[in-house]
Amino acid sequence: MSCSLRPVGLAQRARLERLTAATGLFRPEEVATAVELLAESAAGDDDYQFVGAYDGDELIGYACWGPTPGTRGTADLYWIVVDAARQNRGIGTRLLAEVEERLRAIGCRLIVVETSSRTDYAPTRAFYERRGFTRTATLPAYYEPGDDLVIYLKDLGHGVLARATAQA
Ligand SMILES: CC(C)(COP(=O)(O)OP(=O)(O)OC[C@H]1O[C@@H](n2cnc3c(N)ncnc32)[C@H](O)[C@@H]1OP(=O)(O)O)[C@@H](O)C(=O)NCCC(=O)NCCS
Repeated sequence: MSCSLRPVGLAQRARLERLTAATGLFRPEEVATAVELLAESAAGDDDYQFVGAYDGDELIGYACWGPTPGTRGTADLYWIVVDAARQNRGIGTRLLAEVEERLRAIGCRLIVVETSSRTDYAPTRAFYERRGFTRTATLPAYYEPGDDLVIYLKDLGHGVLARATAQA
């Protein structure tokens, strides 16, 4: 479907909160964190970057990322969310491609994604795996018993992961 990619500002705050909550995946405190990151980004904090997907003036998805503290050339993709009614139409792929393009442009080497092992996250994990992310670590029971932290990495073309695997 056609959509345009543009910045996300405080005007989209309520819509971003609704979109994030409506996925049904995130705990209330996680939704609150997404809103807080938008506020920090809007206040000029470069550690949190947002791009939004819009249908006309309506925000229908967004991604949020930033440099991983204490690293050189590593970035965290903190959030990627598409309106539940508009998923499976290529919007998440466009958002992710935009994030990757912007990160490559600043010489980023690695993208880190933290997600959950819960079964309701299976489509999310498949989304990352089909877009070149490698499941790299699992922290058992990290979120709560039966809910592991799953860490994915994407190597932005510099061979870091391949070398690390060869040396292991
Ligand atoms: C994960 C998420 C961001 C993906 O966004 P999305 O817009 O549904 O993703 P896409 O539509 O680009 O791709 C998903 C599937 O849709 C299908 N698809 C993609 N483009 C399509 C198109 N133009 N026409 C029809 N189907 C299409 C594909 O089957 C694709 O699966 P693939 O991985 O086999 O290629 C979205 O599902 C979401 O918001 N999930 C809930 C929140 C979440 O889990 N966020 C991540 C937290 S860690």
